[in-house]
Amino acid sequence: MAIDVIVVGGGVIGCSIAWRLAQSGLKVTVFERGRVGCEASRAAAGMLSPQGEAQGPGPFFEFCLRSRAMYRSFAEELTEASGIDVEYKDDGTLFVVVEGEDEEAKTKWASWQLEAGLPLEHVSADDLRKLEPAVTELATRAIFLPEEHQVENRRLMDALEVAIKRTGVELIEGADVSALTFEPGRVTGVVSAGKRFDAGVVIVAAGTWSSQLLEPLGLNVKVIPARGQMIAVRRNGCPIKRVLHSSKVYIVPRNDGRILIGATVEYAGFNKAVTAGAINQLLNAAVELVPSIEDFEVEEIWCGLRPDTIDHLPIIGATGVATGVDNLVLATGHFRNGILLAPITAKFVAELTNSNRQPDALRPFGIERFENNLPEPTPAAYGFFR
Ligand code: FAD
Ligand code: GLY
Repeated sequence: MAIDVIVVGGGVIGCSIAWRLAQSGLKVTVFERGRVGCEASRAAAGMLSPQGEAQGPGPFFEFCLRSRAMYRSFAEELTEASGIDVEYKDDGTLFVVVEGEDEEAKTKWASWQLEAGLPLEHVSADDLRKLEPAVTELATRAIFLPEEHQVENRRLMDALEVAIKRTGVELIEGADVSALTFEPGRVTGVVSAGKRFDAGVVIVAAGTWSSQLLEPLGLNVKVIPARGQMIAVRRNGCPIKRVLHSSKVYIVPRNDGRILIGATVEYAGFNKAVTAGAINQLLNAAVELVPSIEDFEVEEIWCGLRPDTIDHLPIIGATGVATGVDNLVLATGHFRNGILLAPITAKFVAELTNSNRQPDALRPFGIERFENNLPEPTPAAYGFFR
């Protein structure tokens, strides 16, 4: 049977898109050079956190909020389709303020969100101790974001794998796509292991490796790896319930008793080393926030490469305006929010593929915006940690 759509990349973005497209009746093949989700999507912390991550109001923030609003039903549908509980947890997120920290920045951040009518609550030190007794006694207050939830992203990837297969997607793992193939005005398919595969539409969802495939088109699109190092610790009986942030670190409690500690944001190219300095700083920051973590067993350390872009916004949409090639679609550059943005990206990329019309919601994220050269991203925008 002829392939309607080829998706390059079996991360959270490629698999979610493939799932929606197959549900709409298309014959979809996913090429994944490793295992499903083996890169950033399994490395992530699974926080669904538009407010916590927000740099300010605007179309990207709105896009993130819309995806957050879709998440509960996305998770339920996926759990139903796969039989795998993706552990959607709705306990909310606490931003803890510790003695001597920049109170003003936190207050400013909370103010614009409150003025925008977003759910956010100020919590006193006493109330914080009732909510999360394990938090440091040096905490002076906290900000609670009740709608910022989390999902177990490794289980999410397991569930997506089962769901896409059950919906009829052909998933080819261990299949590196070495090139896209073109004829004038259209992409015709991909090359993998020296073999050509044709399709009506090709979607590049190859995470931080995406721009490598686009080089022959001469597109001014850069997807840049932003390394994130993480640690998982464990002890019998997890002492925290909610996702916690300090200005240096975030801590994510999982159902199985693990606590994830993250993460660095480093521009170190495609180097996937885990470094002593970063692990040391993450552990110190975690112990500062929750002192009992000192006695926890370190279970795992890892890192992943976030797909960042020059303006830190995702690149989602058809390449037609910039290249004249309408049937090539990009869905990449989700940087710190790819788990969060999977439902909305999949919805609109499926809509675009089925209608051949760019949905309005995707306009801010088209490649046209790169016509003017923008400066390289700087880590300073996010800080080394968090
Ligand atoms: P990836 O998951 O990297 O998938 C791309 C896939 O394409 C890979 O599996 C790769 O093998 C494959 N591929 C690449 N090139 C080819 C090729 N030529 N042929 C075939 N296959 C190819 N996001 C959140 O929303 N919440 C969080 O809490 C969060 N925490 C994070 C913490 C860390 C430490 C990191 C690193 C990331 C975090 N993120 C988080 C970001 C999130 O993980 C990413 O934005 C998201 O996973 C990107 O998904 P993706 O499918 O685009 O990329
Ligand atoms: N969103 C958390 C991270 O990227 O580390």
